Amino acid sequence: MLRCIFTIVPVHLVDHPVAHDALALLRDRTTNASHFRRLAHRVSLILAMEASRDLPVTTGSVDTPLETTAAHRLEADVVVVPVLRAGLGMLEAVLEILPHARVGHIGLQRDEATAIASQYYKKLPADLSRSTALIVDPMLATGGSAVAAIAMLQKAGTQDIRLVCIVAAPEGIAEVERAHPGVHIFTPVIDRELNDQKYILPGLGDFGDRLYGTM
Ligand code: PRP
Ligand code: URA
Repeated sequence: MLRCIFTIVPVHLVDHPVAHDALALLRDRTTNASHFRRLAHRVSLILAMEASRDLPVTTGSVDTPLETTAAHRLEADVVVVPVLRAGLGMLEAVLEILPHARVGHIGLQRDEATAIASQYYKKLPADLSRSTALIVDPMLATGGSAVAAIAMLQKAGTQDIRLVCIVAAPEGIAEVERAHPGVHIFTPVIDRELNDQKYILPGLGDFGDRLYGTM
């Protein structure tokens, strides 16, 4: 079920029991990297379903073994943009739902002291002016990384930009709202706050480190 809870930034709270079950285990400090990767994939499948719910379709026909019937086919040009490196943990799930999507990559790294994100990589497909972009980045903390990624997509001409996260902080949502009103955010949960190091509370720790076992 989707619920828009903010009026300026459309926030879609993806309220699904399977997503919440996976999130509980993602939060658990004893979950190891291999289990963490499977859980990230599972929750991302559900988020991708919701983020793609209103994509346009064309209506044609298909011949079944018995007769011809109406058939609806996806017609949207979708580009999935994982924010490296943690966003890679969501990519395969989105491509499972949208196998014809093109993929762009954006590399952003938060400074450990200031939490300010700096770009170290960008490779986007050409001609994105009519595309729907799904930016996948599991953690929306200060919003610095999301705002930078959205700006890169906007510069490439994309108008329909959606941000798909696994945990969002109120501060990050407010920052996206300030910088890019109109970008839709899909998340199963909005956590309480950021701590002094700009980590999300209660959160799940450092997503990239837990995904790849680099703690
Ligand atoms: C994490 C996360 C987001 C970012 C969110 O990435 O994956 O990209 O922090 O924080 P923000 O909203 O305050 O910008 P990180 O920079 O730790 O890099 P990693 O994915 O390589 O671990
Ligand atoms: N990045 C993470 O991986 N976790 C947080 O809590 C904040 C930013």
